[in-house]
Parts: sequence; C-alpha cells; structure tokens
Amino acid sequence: MSDIIPFDQRDGFIWYNGKFVDWKDAKVHVLNHGLHYASCVFEGERVYNKKIFRSLDHTKRLHASANILGFDLPFSVEELEAAKNEAVAQNNIVDGYMRAFAWRGSEKMAISAQGNKIHVAIACWPWPPYYSEEARRAGLKLKFAKYKRPAPETAPFAAKAAGLYMICTISKHEAENEGYNDALMLDYRGYLAEATGANLFLVMKNGELHTPLADAFLNGITRQTVIEIAKKRGIKVVERHIMSEELADAADAFLTGSAAEITRIGSIEDKFKYPEPSQMTLDLMQAYHDLVRS
Ligand SMILES: Cc1ncc(COP(=O)(O)O)c(C=O)c1O
Repeated sequence: MSDIIPFDQRDGFIWYNGKFVDWKDAKVHVLNHGLHYASCVFEGERVYNKKIFRSLDHTKRLHASANILGFDLPFSVEELEAAKNEAVAQNNIVDGYMRAFAWRGSEKMAISAQGNKIHVAIACWPWPPYYSEEARRAGLKLKFAKYKRPAPETAPFAAKAAGLYMICTISKHEAENEGYNDALMLDYRGYLAEATGANLFLVMKNGELHTPLADAFLNGITRQTVIEIAKKRGIKVVERHIMSEELADAADAFLTGSAAEITRIGSIEDKFKYPEPSQMTLDLMQAYHDLVRS
C-alpha cells in the first residue's frame, strides 16, 4: 500500500475560478467536457524557497495551450500570476509543486462544446523528487515506448494538453511493469523525442551537448533553461534530429523537466549504458540546482 495521501483527501486551499476553496471542496461534476473529451490544459511547476521558478513562462504557456485548444482563459496572465503566488502563501509551501489548469465545463456534453464555461484552478503541495532516490543515484532505467509522438498535423504538440498524455501514461505503466523507471518515446519519423514527462539530452563523446529538435513534442521550459545554462558555460549545444542508434555515441544522457529537474539516465533497455555521470552532467545539475534557488 502506498503511504501517499490521495489528492482529493488532502488539507489546504485550492484557487478555483477566482477564489480559494477548501481543498476537499474543489470538485467538478462527473459530466464535464474536460474529463470526457480531454479539453483540458495544465502546467506543472516547481516552487523553490517559496518562489515559483519561471512562473511567468508557465502562465503564458497555459494561455497559449488553451488558445491552441480553441478557448480563452477567463483570467489574465497577471491575475493568474497573483493567484499562483497567493496559493503558495495560503498553503505555506516552501519547496513544492504547482498545478495550474483549465478545462471546459458541463454546458454541452458532445464533441462540440462551443461556449462551455472555462474553469481554472491552481493547486500546490509539497512534493518529493519525481524519481526515487535510488533511481536518481543509479541513473534511470528506460525502455523504448511502443507509442510514438504524433506528427504536428495529427496532434497539437505545442500545447500542454491532457489528451496528449494518454500515450504517456500507457507507455510509463508498461515500462514500470517491466522494472524500468520510464519510457523513451520516438517521434512519428523514428527520431528520438522525449520521455513521458521530460525532455532528453545527450552528452556526446566529442564533448557537445545534443538534444532532439522540439518539432514534435513540448519544448520544455527546463529544456530551454538547460540550453541557456550550457551555452553560457561555453558548451556547444546542438538541437537536431537524432536517430536512436546515435545513443551509442553518447557518453552520458539525462532528462529535463519541471518535475524531473535534471535526472541522469543510467541505461536504455540493455542496448545503451551510461554507468558513470559525465562531468558536464554534474556541472549542469549543480548550475540548475543553484539557479532555481537563486
Ligand atoms: C511530455 C513532456 N515533455 C517535456 C516536459 C518538460 O517540460 P517543462 O520543462 O516545461 O516542465 C514535460 C513536463 O511538463 C512533459 O510533460
């Protein structure tokens, strides 16, 4: 049995359509469009020492994701920024995780949901690292996913939208059930894409840092941060299409994400092994650690 308290049974306050409600009262009706048709967008962010890292970028992305799904948020970026900071304070979060999300409500329950009310909520809670201590120490064990990141004309990849995560949960469960920590997804062309909730970087044997071009998956805010840090440190960063065989040309590899932060990969099936962290990965981890707390 897990000792994690279910998320609908916690204490605290959730900002819900403009005001704070008791955590356990932040409910939706079972007939809502977000649940049935995945018309829901969300953000995952981290709070370090009471401060939300790159909060404005996340709030802007939430607005952009909603627009891609064809709706406008009824709260401005500024209003959401204020609400997010208030949520941190109300819940006494020092180091934690935040979800800001929006979904179509219940007025129409069919594919067409023109005019459905848009609901917005913000929750935050103390959150331990995304992967277990042991997995982080040894390096993640990844398995290739069966599902691929869809083509841009198949799904709106730039939106952080609930519907895009269906294949992520299937893939992650399959990987976990076989003793892996996560799944590594290719894109529709067969290029390396990302893990189920984090972007991929390869420390190449020639000393460069390579990462898949974000033209079919979320260009993560952590990914952008790591690229900026690496460039400032004089590391040559190459964003390009990468074939999976090229994993053999890497000395080391890691994942990035708001939740995952920078987490090293130890192996990908039994095909690619990165037993020792490279100095570049250790330096980037330290720099990221310092930046988010600065
Ligand atoms: C599928 C996917 N890719 C990448 C990322 C990394 O994005 P970010 O660094 O903005 O958290 C996430 C996490 O939100 C994700 O869910």
